[in-house]
Amino acid sequence: MIVSARGDTGAAVTVAVNAVNAAVTARTGIVLGAGRQADLTASLGKVMAAAGATDPQHWPVLLKTKPALFDQVVAGITIGETYFFRDPEHFAYIREVVLPEVHRRRPGQDVKVWSAGCSTGEEPYSLGIMFDEARIGARVLATDISRPSLAKAKQGIYGRWALRGEGARLIGSYLRPVAKARGEKFELIERVRSAVHFAYLNLPHLWEGYRELKAGRTYRLCAHPQGGCDPVSKFNQGLL
Ligand SMILES: C[S@@+](CC[C@H](N)C(=O)[O-])C[C@H]1O[C@@H](n2cnc3c(N)ncnc32)[C@H](O)[C@@H]1O
Repeated sequence: MIVSARGDTGAAVTVAVNAVNAAVTARTGIVLGAGRQADLTASLGKVMAAAGATDPQHWPVLLKTKPALFDQVVAGITIGETYFFRDPEHFAYIREVVLPEVHRRRPGQDVKVWSAGCSTGEEPYSLGIMFDEARIGARVLATDISRPSLAKAKQGIYGRWALRGEGARLIGSYLRPVAKARGEKFELIERVRSAVHFAYLNLPHLWEGYRELKAGRTYRLCAHPQGGCDPVSKFNQGLL
């Protein structure tokens, strides 16, 4: 149970949620509409209860000083909607327009790809499959702010729901049924898994991330701007 020092639990929670909401937008670029305040309240309440923090007045400061708790609250409000080959027109554009251009400029070289906001991994693995099918060497960097999503992505195991898109109909040769899962779970083959590297990255912190990217000699192809931040232009500036 949550009890504020003033005994005015509801009002104290509202004040805390409003402060945390502002911090979330400032630090991650995520803007929650009025309809999603309840999600933040639920995520915050759950994380604070698990941390033993009973007084809502302390929550904003606690989250400021403990980034891991802040990350957990954010992970509870992100929307991870994704599936294999979601937004087929984007994949078609990369296949038909971007890749020929990359080949023209840098013939014979591997393609380096960034899936920013990769959620549970379906997008970067789709890219890995697409390049493999095209017999193009590729290294895919996949980043997200949600650590639970990244943990699932690294497993490379998916159920039928992740394969619901049209584009997933033809990727059977890249999947192996998971033993004992009665045909309901599928594991990506090692060749595609090893082409994708997952890492935590909060997009507005791209400048720090860029150093990591540069060290890994990985460059952008795709990005998913959130809220008010503009990671692509920042990143492009950083490439020069
Ligand atoms: C709707 S999913 C899209 C997944 C995938 N790109 C796709 O299109 O299928 C959006 C993802 O962006 C991530 N995200 C939101 N804000 C972020 C931020 N500030 N930094 C990094 N990732 C963020 C969320 O955690 C979520 O996994």
